[in-house]
Amino acid sequence: MFYDLASSSWGPEEIAAMRRVIESGRFTMGEHVERFEDAFRAKFGVKHAFMVSSGSAANLVGVAALCYVKDRPLKRGDEVIVPAVAWATTYYPLQQYGLRLRFVDVELDTLNMDVARLEQALTPRTRMVVAVSILGNPCALDRMRAFCDRHGLTLFEDNCESMGASLNGKLAGTFGDIGTFSTFFSHHISTMEGGIVVTDNTEIFQIARSMRAHGWTRGLPPDTTICDQRNDEFYEAYRFILPGYNVRPLELSGAIGIEQLKKLDTIIEARRRNAALFQELFARDERFIIQREHGRSSWFCFTIILNPDRDIDRGRVMAALKTAHIDFRMITGGNFLRHDVIRYFDYDRVGEMRNADIVHDRGFFVGNHPHDLTPQIERLREVLDAAAR
Ligand SMILES: Cc1ncc(COP(=O)(O)O)c(C=O)c1O
Repeated sequence: MFYDLASSSWGPEEIAAMRRVIESGRFTMGEHVERFEDAFRAKFGVKHAFMVSSGSAANLVGVAALCYVKDRPLKRGDEVIVPAVAWATTYYPLQQYGLRLRFVDVELDTLNMDVARLEQALTPRTRMVVAVSILGNPCALDRMRAFCDRHGLTLFEDNCESMGASLNGKLAGTFGDIGTFSTFFSHHISTMEGGIVVTDNTEIFQIARSMRAHGWTRGLPPDTTICDQRNDEFYEAYRFILPGYNVRPLELSGAIGIEQLKKLDTIIEARRRNAALFQELFARDERFIIQREHGRSSWFCFTIILNPDRDIDRGRVMAALKTAHIDFRMITGGNFLRHDVIRYFDYDRVGEMRNADIVHDRGFFVGNHPHDLTPQIERLREVLDAAAR
């Protein structure tokens, strides 16, 4: 492949970190995961952060926790406002906890939820908004936060695609009452598989962390408010208080995460340099709609939508990319409402999904990497220029 979707962000430091774990003989969640969590908490300036086995698991325990908080827990039939373009596992926990989804269209340029439609999406049953910053580009997190505060709603931030992005100087992932991140391969930092939950709310943190591991009490501080106190060590070792999961990460992932987090800023700088070239080559060409940066993007990848007002044959473009060995994918799954799995959801649409459909039918992305991509992006330009004539 001449231009891959993703490449490794690891160096000798990550290999050495793995070796240290192997030599220690302890592989299940322990000291390295804890150190990674501490470093993540410091880097993102949040009160609590904990690691899980994937971004999907982070969304799962995050939503689950909100169903068990003492004050106004989420209940079956409560409504949640979601963007029409997001990842499948942004939505699944909502379905699994019996919530009703209200889908809102996205903006064609930023690819994020069109917040002008939030008021229209609101009903007396609305309890939460899910904010998803698509592919590194911060959504209108400030406006969503203000909307949620005005109406007494929870803001859930699925930031799995946008680690290191920021809006008005505040990091994406830290606007929500709860925020989630993914460290799967191809993301900004990679721990093979992995996810992180962040929150400033101690009750949410303790519930979600308990649900990470069997819903037990282990690890809860003595002054916890999520269960009563007992002092019997024997019963405390296996004491179950919540219907949780086991979505713990491995020590290898924690150890790699410590090294990767040190590199996050330089990784994003490299991605932003590639983005500057991509914008220079594509921004003024009306045949292609590229993602408009809102705030400071961490540029997960580069999206291109073939302008629906121009007669450009998508099949021809895809074939040309294939011939040139340039890999590409649909933009975050396109319009989620068009996937078969939607039949299992309780949902409705807030108006039309015109832009999500255009994203679905005429959009695709190519990779961004943590190193210089000048030859790849220049070749992409030549190939698309010829194929879209
Ligand atoms: C918006 C969003 N949420 C959640 C996830 C799930 O993350 P993971 O692949 O680590 O399970 C992804 C995956 O990339 C994603 O794009």
